[in-house]
Amino acid sequence: MTTSFAALEPAVEAHLDATRDARLASYLDFVRIPSISALPEHAEDCRRAAVWLADTLRAAGIEHVEVVESGGHPLVYGDWLHAEGAPTILVYGHYDVQPVDPLDQWTSPPFEPVVVGERLLGRGSSDDKSNIHIHVMATAAMLAVRGGLPLNVKFLFEGEEESTSIHLDPWLAANRERLAADLVVISDTGFFEGNIPAITTGLRGMMYAQVDVQGSPVDLHSGGYGGVVENPANALARMIAALKGPDGRVLIPGFYDDVVALTDADRSAFAALPFDEAEHARTIGVPTLVGEVGFTALERRGGRPTLDVNGIWGGFQGEGSKTIIPATAHAKISCRLVTAQDPDRIFELFRDFLGSISPPGVTTTVTSLGGGRPSLTPIDHPATQAAARGLAATFGEPPVYIREGGSIPVGASFETTLGLPVVLYGFPPPNDNAHAPDEWMDLGNYEAGIRAVVRIWEELADLPR
Ligand code: BES
Ligand code: MN
Ligand code: MN
Repeated sequence: MTTSFAALEPAVEAHLDATRDARLASYLDFVRIPSISALPEHAEDCRRAAVWLADTLRAAGIEHVEVVESGGHPLVYGDWLHAEGAPTILVYGHYDVQPVDPLDQWTSPPFEPVVVGERLLGRGSSDDKSNIHIHVMATAAMLAVRGGLPLNVKFLFEGEEESTSIHLDPWLAANRERLAADLVVISDTGFFEGNIPAITTGLRGMMYAQVDVQGSPVDLHSGGYGGVVENPANALARMIAALKGPDGRVLIPGFYDDVVALTDADRSAFAALPFDEAEHARTIGVPTLVGEVGFTALERRGGRPTLDVNGIWGGFQGEGSKTIIPATAHAKISCRLVTAQDPDRIFELFRDFLGSISPPGVTTTVTSLGGGRPSLTPIDHPATQAAARGLAATFGEPPVYIREGGSIPVGASFETTLGLPVVLYGFPPPNDNAHAPDEWMDLGNYEAGIRAVVRIWEELADLPR
């Protein structure tokens, strides 16, 4: 069913109607660029996405557009600063996307986007090209029809969010003046379960590490050596098992030291959201939800830290059997963190704990693959309330306030490095298959999102400075 929204003034709606096909074609062009930041062979594609975005910003009427070198995949900057006396917002999104494997589980090729009913299917169609495109198209419509924006805007789009934004943090610190603004809009979140408009007030942080376990220099015959040497895969399995108890608690000493406990008010806010755990399990397609005992699923997702194996490999992977003791075994392991856990400190605890339980006969190496801090933004901040009014006017109901389980590595930096308040909103539906096969965006949400951005900016324009 098409997402319903309140129309803007007739001239803007007429413009949006007349440009609908071109807009969709442009969105598809964006999704066609395989800007996978994690894979070095896609570096040129990331650059192409940045250049495409810069061209699209210019065509929309944005000025001082620049593809900016930051040491990694380029940033895209552009601004429009002619709303004298009005506030300035800094709008953030990311043009990079996640890898596409397992490829055979896609209904259609990930970078050949197709429209199926109300869905646009393709890698990045939702995360985060939808939100970027919505903002740029809303800007284009306002400039084309009204000849101006209600406030001053600086766009900052990056290409390394999905691989922990290692170059953006220092760049923010070095570009404080250029980024001067009254507040930051991060548009890289989405709607709540049931496709309910939402403002996100919390993100989890992240610690990501790779664990490499080395035994003998080469694979060994498991007949000749089984029972005689340590097996790196067995050892890795035992170490992973020691990281988390059956009650869902992480067993790394010190892991919970800095966790700020949920207050009664926090817990009431989670409980007030329209959410049914059994139905959620059905939607995901799992027999039941599990996790840390003593907390609801929404509390565990938005307000509690956790640890997960993201990938594990080693030894023989082919058809049939091969009798070896593998030389090595490996795992990618990440922790989702909450206030006030520090990713660097958690990495040290993780590394030291694995070091202490690594058995004789193997060597265990733990390498950091990056991270990000958790963040919380106050619901009662005037900017959050202004955004809420814009969403309410568009969708006919006030948004829900949610604490998300996902992470945006630089999310916290806008506040700590630039000293700016942050508002997080975006338009993908919650079941968009982000990071998974058949990622999709609801085109009703996309069109409604353009109207919502216009209204949110009008509301933000009236904020006292
Ligand atoms: N858009 C997501 C963050 C997100 C996820 C917000 C779910 C709200 C709900 C972002 O692109 C993302 O996937 N971030 C990564 C960061 C990681 C690679 C450091 C994540 O959360 O896994
Ligand atoms: Mn994202
Ligand atoms: Mn993502």
